[in-house]
Amino acid sequence: MIPNMVYLHGAICESLRLYPPVTLQHKVPIKPVVLLSGHRIHPGNKVLIPLYVVGGMKSIWGEDSLEVKPERWIPERGGIRPEPSYKFLLFNAGPRSCLGWEVALR
Ligand code: HEM
Repeated sequence: MIPNMVYLHGAICESLRLYPPVTLQHKVPIKPVVLLSGHRIHPGNKVLIPLYVVGGMKSIWGEDSLEVKPERWIPERGGIRPEPSYKFLLFNAGPRSCLGWEVALR
């Protein structure tokens, strides 16, 4: 985050959420997994995650998910609301996360 430029940070995150430059993520499990949804994924099967869709989902971002609201990223007390990387997946999550995300935001 750029110090003291909280609203700009929120505006950039909103634009990245709704118009992600990397539109698809894909994952391939190395052992069987059962997703929270109950879907079973077998080793070697590829799961595609369409970030363009995920960024606008009401179940993740709320009823106003399709509105551009930089305030979404600014908590009542001020500062920046850190969203979990598994929710804001733009820069990937886990060990292969983007190493340049802070540079990209700057
Ligand atoms: C908005 C801009 C950017 C987006 C959306 C983005 C997104 C991503 C994503 C999704 C990955 C994971 C790729 C994968 O393995 O599936 C990644 C990896 C990576 N990114 Fe970025 N990136 C951005 C900018 C940058 C910048 C500016 C840098 C360097 C200064 C950078 C450096 C890297 C590196 C080194 C990795 C590989 C990490 C690893 O595999 O251990 N990225 N990025």
